[in-house]
Amino acid sequence: MKELTNTVAAVTGAASGIGQAVAIGLAREGCHVAVSDINETGLQDTVKILESMGAVVTAQKLDVTDRSAMEAWAAKIAAELGGINIIVNNAGVGLSATVEDMSYEDFEWLMDINFWGVVYGTKAFLPYLQKEKEGHIVNISSVAGIVSAPTGSAYCAAKFAVRGFTESLRQELEIGGSNVSCTTIHPGGIKTNIAKTSRVTESEMLPMDQEEMADDFSKLALTTPEGAAKVIIEGIQKNKRRVLIGNDARVIDIVQRILPTAYQRLVSTGMKFTFRNRKSKSQSVASPAPVTAVVPSVAPPTQEKAKAPVKAKAPAKAKTPAKASEPVKASAPAKPEPKKSESKVEASAE
Ligand SMILES: NC(=O)c1ccc[n+]([C@@H]2O[C@H](COP(=O)([O-])OP(=O)(O)OC[C@H]3O[C@@H](n4cnc5c(N)ncnc54)[C@H](O)[C@@H]3O)[C@@H](O)[C@H]2O)c1
Repeated sequence: MKELTNTVAAVTGAASGIGQAVAIGLAREGCHVAVSDINETGLQDTVKILESMGAVVTAQKLDVTDRSAMEAWAAKIAAELGGINIIVNNAGVGLSATVEDMSYEDFEWLMDINFWGVVYGTKAFLPYLQKEKEGHIVNISSVAGIVSAPTGSAYCAAKFAVRGFTESLRQELEIGGSNVSCTTIHPGGIKTNIAKTSRVTESEMLPMDQEEMADDFSKLALTTPEGAAKVIIEGIQKNKRRVLIGNDARVIDIVQRILPTAYQRLVSTGMKFTFRNRKSKSQSVASPAPVTAVVPSVAPPTQEKAKAPVKAKAPAKAKTPAKASEPVKASAPAKPEPKKSESKVEASAE
């Protein structure tokens, strides 16, 4: 979709981080924007920013794991804004735990949001997109959808699944000669709140609590949400299949191409070396591999914490969000002024 002015775009998880920045970026391009999130307070902040830009905006408190609420939201946007051209399935959470220690409850929580939320958003919006001259689906995966990392099994499973789902969809749309297309997004480390709301199950392999993980993540994530949004919007305009965000993502993609399976040994050797160091020294140790540094759910241990064999601790739970689908606020002021983003993050896409 080259021309975005006066088209209608919907974004999930728009109260914070990448989702908020994408909503703002799309409004700058002249889109009318429908935003949703489970976090009503953050969503209201996004609405205020969009309104201050003069954007046409409608907002909805929405839990992406609620399929019928997703379907109702799509119908409501089409009725209120006269159609829908773009859906950005962005809402997501993090989880760090070994397979052995991870509870089914945490695993299902993550899959419901990071995978099923994307599926519900895609299927609920597709029929509306098909009614328009042009439509585009943007599904947010991760570098964790390109490579795996220890203690990131659930996150990687969801992000690999989003990639497979979206790549299959793209082929189906092409075969059918559809007016709708889709893009898979693979961000590297983006400076957002994701690590603050992630769940962490401490273990010998992961001797860090949620706060320590969030601290490490904020040091390691290099790209701004605004920079990520610029690359995502370019991906829509250029109809990219795959979009990588940040140098870290590009390096990881290259490593995966050169060492499609052997990269795993590199990561596990690095992790083993880290553990040996941690056990023999009391000082901090360096990151074992760039992969673990940028996958939000699997920041590497950087401090000595547990020397004795560690039992799996009860997960530091983020509160499981309640299902919700109440309207937040809707307004339809003047048309937004299209302006170009100034961020310098580059896209790498094919
Ligand atoms: N930050 C990174 O480094 C990074 C890297 C790769 C991929 N991603 C992906 O980017 C997407 C956005 O994450 P972010 O980094 O901006 O994090 P963020 O925490 O800043 O934003 C995520 C948003 O999703 C919302 N959300 C969570 N659960 C929800 C639910 N059940 N229903 C509706 N909304 C819900 C949150 O309230 C929040 O506003 C996620 O899918 C994430 O996995 C992030």
